[in-house]
This record gives sequence, structure tokens and C-alpha cells, in this order.
Amino acid sequence: MMRRYCGDVSLKDVGKKIKIFGWVRRVRDLGGVVFVNVRDITGEIQCVIEPEAEYYEAAKALGTQYVVEIEGVVRKRPESMINKDMKTGETEVVINRLKVLNTSPTPPFLPEDTVEVSEEVRLRYRFLDLRRPWLQSNIIKRSKLMKHVRDFLYSKGFHEIDTPYLTKSTPEGARDYVVPSRIHKGKFYALPQSPQLYKQVLMSSGFDKYFQIARCFRDEDLRADRQPEFTQIDLEMSFVDVEDVLNLTESLVEYVFDKLIGLKVKRPFLRLSYKDAIENYGSDKPDLRYRSKLIDFTPHLEKSGFRVAEGIINSGGKIIGVRTGKSLSRKEIEKIQDEIKKEGAAGLLWFKSDGEKLTGQLSKFIKGDFEPGTYLLVGEKTPKVYNLAGMLRDLVNKRFEEKEDELSILWVVDFPLFERNEETGQLEPAHHIFTMPREDTLKYLENQPDKVIGKQYDLVINGIELGSGSIRNHDKNMQIKLLKMIGFDDERIERNFGFLLEALEYGAPPHGGIALGFDRLLAVMLGLDSIRDVIPFPKTTSAQALYEGAPDYISEEQLKELHLKIRSDD
Ligand code: AMO
Repeated sequence: MMRRYCGDVSLKDVGKKIKIFGWVRRVRDLGGVVFVNVRDITGEIQCVIEPEAEYYEAAKALGTQYVVEIEGVVRKRPESMINKDMKTGETEVVINRLKVLNTSPTPPFLPEDTVEVSEEVRLRYRFLDLRRPWLQSNIIKRSKLMKHVRDFLYSKGFHEIDTPYLTKSTPEGARDYVVPSRIHKGKFYALPQSPQLYKQVLMSSGFDKYFQIARCFRDEDLRADRQPEFTQIDLEMSFVDVEDVLNLTESLVEYVFDKLIGLKVKRPFLRLSYKDAIENYGSDKPDLRYRSKLIDFTPHLEKSGFRVAEGIINSGGKIIGVRTGKSLSRKEIEKIQDEIKKEGAAGLLWFKSDGEKLTGQLSKFIKGDFEPGTYLLVGEKTPKVYNLAGMLRDLVNKRFEEKEDELSILWVVDFPLFERNEETGQLEPAHHIFTMPREDTLKYLENQPDKVIGKQYDLVINGIELGSGSIRNHDKNMQIKLLKMIGFDDERIERNFGFLLEALEYGAPPHGGIALGFDRLLAVMLGLDSIRDVIPFPKTTSAQALYEGAPDYISEEQLKELHLKIRSDD
């Protein structure tokens, strides 16, 4: 007898003998007839057994999460018993034979979509959590997305090439996870923060188009959209410039959105320069599902007689604000003030307009015609003001505004090549140090490095940085020069990047690429806030694997073999 999957049984099967395998979801004894609902990866089917049938007692004794093999005959349910909410709700299987393949104690929670359990408990019993249909569906979509990505990139002539996990530290801004070497006392491998250097080397070797669905490891502070190990769609192409990479990436995104969720995205994607993004939205990853822009109130308050504002402006600062069409209460304004103060703002300024006259804190100092609504402003002496105003925009949008679009996809381009470390003033790469400066800004490299623009691009979806990439330096001397500008000396350059520089020296082609966060992409497509819900075995925000119990201590022997001692002074 052929196996049928539970979710596939339909009216077409009525009268047929079938065999199913699955997990008992629940058993209902209706004082005579016993109903056993069985679920497998495809869905659920109701099985029934009458008191006089051979396996009646066995069916009655089944517990939830028992694993069963059932043979039976499909029949149409009586009209009054049809369950419209269930895919197989018009049918049921009359049990002829029942075999228990495994039992289960009462589980700590029922793996049902409707059961509410804390994430900690879910992660502790992940194997059970993963039995929930919703989570199973996310993980299956993960598998499908991988296939769509592969189908697309293979069709464009890319080669899928894997690169090492046990490698050398290639600094990309986060801390490394390291692995001690047994054979080489005192030496460590590092797990890759990304395959960045290897993919550049592959270009030098002539592979022309590379991609990899790559696991990356970064020891950094975690959030809902950050995991210590995560997956990238990593790609690199030779003989290309910015437009080629953007085009290819747009086609990839268009393809996978259509294939996975049937959504047609509009192309070409909107492009914003870094400067415009910051000045208009206060963020290099603006969420344009909300259209509102920041308003520069500096000219209005410059000679307003409002001391605080004048003080900020006179020391080179700005006052930037946002508008909401709603008339906010004092309480609502105070709440926003508390939150923006937590982000580092000194305070919140505000006024209201009814379309004719102004009221509220700043009303005596501000002149002009303002659309009706509430205006909230922050001031700062430094460019951080945009940052704060951007957070203010997010707070106001989330609380009081309606999204004007379902999906916002855009490129942010023309990033400065460098940023300044706030504390030390040292130059740091805005993306990573392998990014090529834009030719027309090379003239600033020596004397005004802050004005150099990098050939970098970020893909932003719904306010989330989904991908980042650049055209790279294929010229060894330029690469060395940039490394020196961020404070690397010859010795460190050789130690960390010697192998890359060698590959550049011996005829590396011009090349560039991008990496998209695979987990973030999937979460966005499924409308989920946390990437933990699209990763089979994620870690908690304190980087723990609760189910397997990692990280964990290792034995004295292992430590010894690895030439390690645990310090007791920290
Ligand atoms: P970047 O560091 O910007 O670039 O990473 C690319 C994308 O990976 C995702 N991402 C993460 N997702 C989950 N958890 C994390 N901790 C995490 N960190 C990053 C983001 C991000 O946009 N080698 C370069 C790419 C290149 O230049 O080609 C790189 O890794 O979606």
C-alpha cells in the first residue's frame, strides 16, 4: 500500500485504501467513536474508529505526539461534520490498522500555532517548536528561497564556490570567533565574518562570476535582526562597475519575490545618495513606506530669540524636526521626549499648527505658515542631529502614522569612503576597506579624505539594511594606501592581508559584488520582525544555543591538548 501524505488526502481519494504516517495531534473520545488527528509535514487529517473495530482500544490509548502508522479507507465526512478551516476537512480516514512507531511523554508545550510560549522555552525545546506548522512553513520557505536564488544565479552564469570556515582573521568591523589550533601551539583560526577576501581572490583566479550561500560568523551585540552566525547570498563579478552589480541584484530580488511570495516589485529601485538619505530621513536605511521627510528648522530659529536654539545654531549645530498630521497631547509629546532622550537627545522642542495660528512651546519664536499638525524638533551641535531626527521620525511614524506603501525598496549610494571614529577621530572604512574610491573624488584622498566617496551601495528594504557591496580596489598600491590611511602599518598589512595583496599583484581583474542578508531577506518577505523565526536553530540574544546547550565548558584534556588555560582573573 502506497504512503499518502496527510495534507494531500482529498475527495478524490474517497473509497481508496491508504497508509499514512505522522504525529498524533489529538485524540477525542466522543463516548463511542474515537477521532485521531494525525499531522505530517504536509498537513493534517482526521482518522476515525468505531468501538467494535479491532484497533479501537489502541486508538483510545494514543497520546499527543505519538508517532503512528495508520492504514484505512478514505470516506467523505457527513455534511454536518465538514471542517471548512481544514484543507482535508471534507474527508476522514476510517482506521483499519494502527501501529505505534514511537511514544512521547506529555510535551512541555503543544506544538500548535495558537499556543503561546515564551521564546526561551521554544528555543529550549526547538525540536518540538519546529513541529509547529507555522515554523515548518517558514523553514520550508527558507529551503525554497535557497533554490530560487541558486536557479537565478546559475541561469546568469554564476558558479557556486565554497570557501573555508577555518581561516584567518579578516577584520570587517566585528569581533572574530576564533578556533584554537591543536597542532600549532598558541595559534588560532578565525571563523570568517564573510567570504570577502576569498571571493576577491577567486576573481583574481579568473572565475568571473562567483556566488555562495555563505555562513558568516560575527561576535557582536545581537538584536532581532542580528545573529552570531547568519547566512549571506554572497556574490562577486569581474569586469563590472556599479551599474552592473545593481542591475543584477535588482533582477535577483525581483525574481525571488515573484517566485516565493508572488509579489511583483517595481524596478528600477529608487536611488538615494547617502547625503540625501541623511538630510531627508536621518538614516542611511530609511523606511520609505512612510513618506514624511525631516524639516530643517535652523533658518526659522536662528534669530528667533529662543536662547537654547540660538546657542546650538551659533556653535554650528542644527535644529531638525518632523511633522505628524495628528494633534498630539502633552502626554504623547512627553512620551516621545522620554524615548528620544534615551537615544541621547538633550530634549525635545515642539509646537502645533492648526493651519492658521501656532500654539505650544515654540509658538512665540517661530514664524511662517505650517500645515496643520504637531511639529517635534531636536537640536544638536554635531551632525548627530540627523541621526536623532531620524530616530524621532521612526518613533513618530510607528506611533501615529499609517504606512503609505506595503514595500519600500531602495538603494543608498555615494557613501563617504571613510567615517571618523567619534572618540579617537581616526579614519575608519564606512563599508570595508576593500571599497574603491570614486574616480572624481580621488583628488581629496591625501588632504580631505572625508570628502572621498566610495563606490559602495546598500540595498534597503522597509528600513532594514538588506545588503551591502562595492566595487573593489584591484590595484595593490591603492589597497595598501587605503589600509595605511586607516592606521595599518606594513607589518600588519602583510600579516592580515598579504594573501589578498599577492592575488591583486599578479593580475587581478576589476571586480565588485554584494552580499545580501539571506535571513533578513526571508524575514522581510514573510513579514516577520525577528530573523530567529526563519532560522532552524537560532541563538538567543545572548548568543546561546539553548537546546544543544552551547557555548559550553570543555574538558581539562581538551584544554590541555589545545594548549589553553582558563584565566581566573576575569
Ligand atoms: P555586510 O557586513 O554589510 O557586508 O553584510 C552584508 C549583509 O549581511 C547581513 N548581516 C547580518 N544578518 C544577520 N545577522 C548579522 N549579524 C548580520 N550582519 C550582517 C545584512 C548585511 O547587509 N563582505 C561584505 C559584502 C560585500 O562587500 O560584498 C559584507 O559582509 O543584511
